[in-house]
Amino acid sequence: MATLTVEEKVRLVVGADMWTTIPIERIGLRPVVFSDGPAGVRGTGRVEGETSASFPAPSALAATWDVELAARAGAVFAGEAARHGVDVVLAPQVNLQRTPAAGRHFECYSEDPLLTGAIAVALIRASQDRGVGMSVKHYVANDSETDRTRYRSIVDERTLRECYLAPFERAVHDAGVWSVMGAYSGVDALGAAAPVLEHAPLLTGLLKDEWGFDGVVVSDWLATRSIGAAVRGGLDLQMPGPDGPWGEGLLASVRLGAIPVELLDDKVARLLLLARRVGALGDAPRPEPGTPEQAAVFLREMTARSVVVLRDAAGQLPLAVPADRPFTVALLGPAATDPFIQGGGSAYVRPDHIALPADALREALPATAELVVHRGARARLKPPPLDVADRCTDPLTGERGIRVELLDAAGDLLESCTAAEWNGWLATPIRTDAATARLSTTVHLTEAGDHELGFGTVGRHEVLIDGRVASASDGLVGAEVILSSVYNHPPIGTVTVKVDEPADVDIRADLQVVHPVGYASFARALITHRRPGPSAESELAEAVAAAAAADVAVVMVGTTSEIESEGFDRTGLGLPGNQDELVRRVVGANPRTVVVVNAGAPVLLPWLPDTGTVLWAWLAGQECGTALADVLLGVTEPAGRLPWTLPARAEDVPVPDAVPRDGEITYTEGPHIGYRGWERSGAEPAACFGHGLGWTTWEHEQAEVTTSPDGATVHVTVRNTGARAGREVVQVYVEPPAPDPERPVRWLGGFAVVEVEPGATATVAVNVPRRAFEVWDTAARDWALPPGEHVLRIGRSIRDLRLRRACPRSPLTRPDPV
Ligand code: BGC
Repeated sequence: MATLTVEEKVRLVVGADMWTTIPIERIGLRPVVFSDGPAGVRGTGRVEGETSASFPAPSALAATWDVELAARAGAVFAGEAARHGVDVVLAPQVNLQRTPAAGRHFECYSEDPLLTGAIAVALIRASQDRGVGMSVKHYVANDSETDRTRYRSIVDERTLRECYLAPFERAVHDAGVWSVMGAYSGVDALGAAAPVLEHAPLLTGLLKDEWGFDGVVVSDWLATRSIGAAVRGGLDLQMPGPDGPWGEGLLASVRLGAIPVELLDDKVARLLLLARRVGALGDAPRPEPGTPEQAAVFLREMTARSVVVLRDAAGQLPLAVPADRPFTVALLGPAATDPFIQGGGSAYVRPDHIALPADALREALPATAELVVHRGARARLKPPPLDVADRCTDPLTGERGIRVELLDAAGDLLESCTAAEWNGWLATPIRTDAATARLSTTVHLTEAGDHELGFGTVGRHEVLIDGRVASASDGLVGAEVILSSVYNHPPIGTVTVKVDEPADVDIRADLQVVHPVGYASFARALITHRRPGPSAESELAEAVAAAAAADVAVVMVGTTSEIESEGFDRTGLGLPGNQDELVRRVVGANPRTVVVVNAGAPVLLPWLPDTGTVLWAWLAGQECGTALADVLLGVTEPAGRLPWTLPARAEDVPVPDAVPRDGEITYTEGPHIGYRGWERSGAEPAACFGHGLGWTTWEHEQAEVTTSPDGATVHVTVRNTGARAGREVVQVYVEPPAPDPERPVRWLGGFAVVEVEPGATATVAVNVPRRAFEVWDTAARDWALPPGEHVLRIGRSIRDLRLRRACPRSPLTRPDPV
C-alpha cells in the first residue's frame, strides 16, 4: 500500500476491462480475473471457441437439499475456474424466489433463506478452499428483473434481516466469502432510500462494520452511477472499466480532496487481500484445473439426483424395459428435440458438449428397444433462425453466406467479408470507427407455400426484405440494451413471401454498430425463417399416433430462452405454445406416459392430476440426456425435493408479479415469502415446498430433540418401507409458540439427507440453528428469542408432516453474562 501512488490506487478500484483488474508488476500483482456465473464458469471470451462445463441451472442443486453435493459442486466450480484462468466466479446468486414470475428465478436456489444459505455456504467454502473466490450476488432485495436498474425495493428491516439478508449473512459468517456483488436496484430500508451501491447503511454499516465482511464489494456490471455517493456508500470496485463514473472522475475527486485518500486506501487494501487470496499477489500456487471429463461425470450424477418425482401414481419408475423382446419408447415434445438446457442471460456458458435426450436414451436402451422421436408441439413463439449456410448467397461474390460491410459515420466502406455462418451477432472485435454494418444476402426459397422471413435488431436501422421495409428506426442505443436484455430478444419485423416455384429473395439491412461503454461492440441481426411445413395439428397427430403405438411414451415439455432469462420477468405461468395440448392427448392415447418438465421456474401443469408419472427435470445443463436416461432406466434415483412451491392456479400465488409501481416494489407480504405465503392462505398448490417422491416410500418413526444455546438437534429415525434403496430428505419445520401474524405459520428450520437400504432404518441428526427460532427486534437492534416453547414438525415436505415435538426453550436461552 505504502508504495502505491494515488493514480495506481484509483486505477486499482476500476476494472481494466470487462473482466479483469489492473496489474502492477512492481509489487508482483497480476490482474484478478472475474467471470460469470452460477451455471458454470464461462471464461473471459479471450480464447476463441472457449467452452465450459454447463451445470444445471442453480435451483437444481438446491433441489438435492444436499450440502455435501453442493460442496462437490463448489470443487468442480474451482476446477472449472482454474481451467479458464478465472480467479473469482460471479456466483452464487442468493436472491430469493419471491415470485415465480421472476425472470432469473432459475438462477436462484430457493424461496427459502435457510436452504439458500446452506447450499451457498457449502459451495463457496469448497471453491475458496481451493483458492477460487466467489462473489455472492446480487446484494440485496434484487429479486426481479422488470426495470431492474431503476426500481427500489421497500422492505421492512425485520423482513430484510430474517429473509433476504439471511443467505448473504451466512455467506459472510459461515463461508467467509471473498466478494459480494452489489445490485443494480435500490433499497429503501435501514433509514435510507438509495441505489444499493450508494446505500451506506447496507454496505458499510451492515455488511462491513456489523458483519465484518473483509472482502471486495464489486458493482454489478455498469451499475455504478456516481463517484462520491458510491465511494462513501461502500462500493470497492467498479466493473467493468476502464471508463464509467470512477474511471472518468475518481482521480480528480481525490486530487481535489472531495474524497479522502483513506477511503480509497480501504478499498485498495480489500482488493489486495482478494488478490492475495486468489494467488494474484505473491506466490501462492494456482489452483488445480479440472478437466471436462471430470466435470461431466459429476454433472451427470448431480443432475440425475436433482430430478423431482412430482407424481408416480402409475408406479412406472424406473421403467422396466425388457431386453429379450421388442419394446418401443416414443420420445416426444419440443424439449426432447430441442432441450432448453440453461436459462438466458449472463449465466450462459457455451457447453463442452450437450448430451441430447434422444442420443442418450438410444445409447442406454437395450438393442432390442426401438426409440421413435417426434417434436409434436411448439414451445418457441418466435420462428427459428434462418439456415444461412444452406440458403444464403453473398450477392456480390456469389459465395455461400452473408455479405458484411462496415461503414464509417460518413458512409465510407471500412472493410467487408462474407460470413458463411451466422449466429445472430456481428461481434468479432469491431473497429471503433465503424458506425454501420451493412448486411446483404440472397435467400433461396425452394418449398412451395408461405415463407415468413423476419429480422430483429436494436438501435438505428433499416431492413428491407424482398424490397419491403421489414423494420426501421432512427433511435441510437447504448449499453442500456444490454442491461434490459432487449438485444437478446429484439422485436422482429417480418415479411411473408409466397412461393410457387423456387425463388430468390434479397435481404438488405443497415444496422447501427453499438459501442456500449464497458462491453464489446456489436451489431445485432437475428434473421428468422418459418418455412411452410406441417401444420401444428398434423405434428400433434403424428406424435399422438407414435405414443399410442409405443410401449411407453416420454413427453418432454418446458420453457425456452424466450421465457426464462435476464432483463425481464415472465408475464404468465403457463407452458408456452401448444405443449399442454400435446401432453393431454398423449396421456389420453397411452396411459404409460412419463412427462418430463424441462423448466427452471414453476409452470402451471393443468394435466398433472390426470398423468401417471411426472418428473421435474430443471434446465438440466449439458448432461440433460444422460441424466434423464439414468433416471428413467434406474441407474440413479431422482431424489430431488422442490425448493419452491408449484402453483396449481396462478390466482393462488402469494406474490404474482414483480412489476414496480411508480419505480417501487413494496414487499407487503413481509416474511411470508413463498411457501410461507401458501401456509398463511391455506391455498392448495399443485406440489408443495419440499415435495418429491424418489423411488421408495418412507416412515418417520422417531424423533428426539436436544437443545443448547446454539440451537436444537433433532435425531430422526426413518425407515425405508419400499423395495429399493433410496435417499430421504428429512425436513424439520419450526412453528412459533403461539400463532403470531408477524411470523410465518411454520418455516424451514433444518434438513438432512440420508441413504437407506430397503426395509432398513437410519437415524439422522438435523441441526436447527438458534437463528431459526429468533426474530429481529428492530427497536432493540438485535436478535431476540421469543418467549414460550417452539414446536418442531418433522416430515417429508411442508404439507407432509409426520412427527411433532416441543422444543424446550430453557437450554436455548444463553446464560446471563457473569
Ligand atoms: C448481471 C450479473 C452478471 C454481470 C456480468 C449483469 O448484467 O446482473 O449477474 O454477473 O452482468 O455478466
